[in-house]
Amino acid sequence: MIKACIFDLDGVIVDTAKYHFKAWNRLAQTMGFEITNEQNELLKGVSRMESLEVILSLAKKELTQEEKIEACRQKNEWYVEFISKMDEKEILPGAVLLLDELIANNIKIALGSASRNAVPLLTKLNIIDRFEVIVDGTKTTESKPHPQVFLMGADALGVKPEESIVFEDSVSGVQAANTGNFMSVGIGDEDQLHEADIIFSGLNDINLLILQRAFAI
Ligand code: BG6
Ligand code: MG
Repeated sequence: MIKACIFDLDGVIVDTAKYHFKAWNRLAQTMGFEITNEQNELLKGVSRMESLEVILSLAKKELTQEEKIEACRQKNEWYVEFISKMDEKEILPGAVLLLDELIANNIKIALGSASRNAVPLLTKLNIIDRFEVIVDGTKTTESKPHPQVFLMGADALGVKPEESIVFEDSVSGVQAANTGNFMSVGIGDEDQLHEADIIFSGLNDINLLILQRAFAI
C-alpha cells in the first residue's frame, strides 16, 4: 500500500531548477567559467555550499572560507530576486492535481528538499497547505544522495520508507531515495535518471492509479 508521497521541490513541484542554474552560471561567469547543462545536473539536489564546491572544482578555482560564504550569499541574492517574480503559473503542470488526488485518498504528503528557500517559495505560491510535513535545507545536516531528508520526512509522517514514494528530478535525489529504501519516481530525462524505479517526464503524466500499477500495490 502507498501510505505517503514525498516530493522534492525544485524541478518537481516548481520550475525553479532553471533559476538555480541561471544564478550559479552568473556566479561562474564572474570567475570566467560557464556551466554546461551536463555539469548543471551535478548541482541539482545538493546544498548551496556543496554546489559551490562542485563549481569551484570544475573551474579549478580555490576560494577562502570567507569568499565561499560571500559567493553563496551573492548566488542566493540573485536566486531570490528571480523567484520573487514567480507566480502560480510556474508551479509545474499536474503538481496541484496530483497532490490533491493523493490527499483526497488519504495519502500523506511531505516535502523533502535541500533548499533553504522552500517555505517562503511554497507560501508565495499558495501551496504550502498541501504539505503535512516539510523537511528542507534548514533541517538537514546531510545532503542528497544521503537519504536523511526523506527518512526525516517518513519519520515525521509516521510511515515506513517502503510504504512511501519519493519524486525526484536529480540523480543525487533518486540515489537518496533508493538508499533509504523508498520507491523512487524520476521526473525528467531517462538518460539522467535511469536509477529510478520508474521515470516520467512530469507530474502531469501521473495519477494514483498509474502509481499503484507501476509499483504493483
Ligand atoms: C535543491 C536544488 O533543491 O536545493 C539545488 O536542486 C540547490 O540546485 C539546493 O542548490 C539548495 O537550495 P537553496 O535555495 O537553499 O540555495
Ligand atoms: Mg530537484
